Amino acid sequence: MRPFQGSVGACRADGNGQQNLKVKNNMSQSRIVVEGGISLAGKVGISGSKNAVLPLLAATVLTDAPCLVSSVPGLKDVEVMSEILRNLGSEVHFDAEAGEIRTLATDIATSEAPAHLVKSMRASVVCMGPMLARTGAASFPLPGGCAIGERPIDLHIKGFMALGADIEVKSDDSGDGFVEARCKKLKGAEVYLDFASVGATQNIMMAASLAEGFTIIENAAQEPEVVDLANFLRKMGARIKGAGTDVIKIKGVEKLHGAEHHVIPDRIEAGTYMLAAAISRGNVLIDNMVPDHVVPITAKLRETGVRISEENGGVRVKADEALLRMTDIKTLPYPGFPTDIQPQFMAFLSTVNGPSAVIETVFENRFMHVAELNKMNANIIDDGRRAIVKGNAKLKGAKVRATDLRAGAALVIAGLAAEGTTEVSDIYHIDRGYEDIVGKLRSLGASIERIDT
Ligand code: EPZ
Repeated sequence: MRPFQGSVGACRADGNGQQNLKVKNNMSQSRIVVEGGISLAGKVGISGSKNAVLPLLAATVLTDAPCLVSSVPGLKDVEVMSEILRNLGSEVHFDAEAGEIRTLATDIATSEAPAHLVKSMRASVVCMGPMLARTGAASFPLPGGCAIGERPIDLHIKGFMALGADIEVKSDDSGDGFVEARCKKLKGAEVYLDFASVGATQNIMMAASLAEGFTIIENAAQEPEVVDLANFLRKMGARIKGAGTDVIKIKGVEKLHGAEHHVIPDRIEAGTYMLAAAISRGNVLIDNMVPDHVVPITAKLRETGVRISEENGGVRVKADEALLRMTDIKTLPYPGFPTDIQPQFMAFLSTVNGPSAVIETVFENRFMHVAELNKMNANIIDDGRRAIVKGNAKLKGAKVRATDLRAGAALVIAGLAAEGTTEVSDIYHIDRGYEDIVGKLRSLGASIERIDT
């Protein structure tokens, strides 16, 4: 397997890693500085969904015709996915100003994904299904785990094998593992997912769209991002039923044509601003979002006494009156409480009256924000899967570090409520999933700035 020899966006991959390391160090010296004590007020608009646009871009590999994806957020992960598609042979034009990406995958030049890029972003694994279906082969580095867990791809592989692919796990010259899938023509099959994995559901749905015959995915993920992908695939000519339920049926077709698609708003970004309004005891209208996609977040915030109402197609969050009280949260696959809002909600719970329990069932290591929040006097204890947030904390500004994307967001919103100055470093994590978080919070009255060194 050829090591990646290209160069990409912000992280220059020059083969020896030094330059890349330097870029990463520079990025890791950037930081966000927040002065706490201001209640947010006003209106904020939500960008297109990171977790919807990434599989949508992967799906464009399934056709040799042009595709247009709009309402694309300006995020690092979108740049990385665009670069991966270019390495596979697709033309990808990202107009960040217009928020549009045009693709044309006339020929797929290789079935080998660029290792350096794939390892930097787990989500790239959803390119595997489209590559396998389009070219009959896909060779992918085994995604390294990441900060929040080991995150294997056994369910993705189970699906490809059910569709008739031969799978081999090998190691490259540097000893890193990669998986090779091969199959001249995929055949429809029944696949049961032991866990309702979002990525595995998306990968299998895309591969099955060009397989011969019927595929049924049982215990499928029901996230809105799965539904958005199914809607795009149907526009391309795929025959898919049941997306958004736990049983998805796909009737394979010979060929898919190009399509245009508007990405759904980012429910996790919307939830993050709902929590920012709550933790700062503010009054904020969150606009350009889908209230139905944040029902668990709305329900749990209402249990604490935060007042939430639908307004002009968005959601108004009012936390400037009542004394707010505890509630317990347990993360689950959609429509359960979203794991991607757990860190932000935990930061908020540290400021309400009374102890709350937080149970994380989706990832095995998603409490790394606890230590950082405790540097801000949040008073939380945890055993890796369960946490007790004591409550009534008077958060204090501190120097803290983003350990992953959502943990970083939690620290920024904690800074809104903290007394004094909070400095969040390693904000390259945040850049992966939040478009202009500093500008958006500043537009709501926050005293916040980004310092790039
Ligand atoms: C998607 O990741 C999201 N990412 C994640 O958002 C989100 O937290 C996650 O779904 C759960 O909702 C994107 O959509 C790009 P999974 P994904 O496969 O697809 C285990 C964010 O912050 N698992 O549903 O990787 C896995 O280890 C990110 O935006 C297997 O065991 O999530 C994990 O414990 C973080 N075998 C659990 O399932 C597999 O083959 C959930 O994984 C696949 C997954």
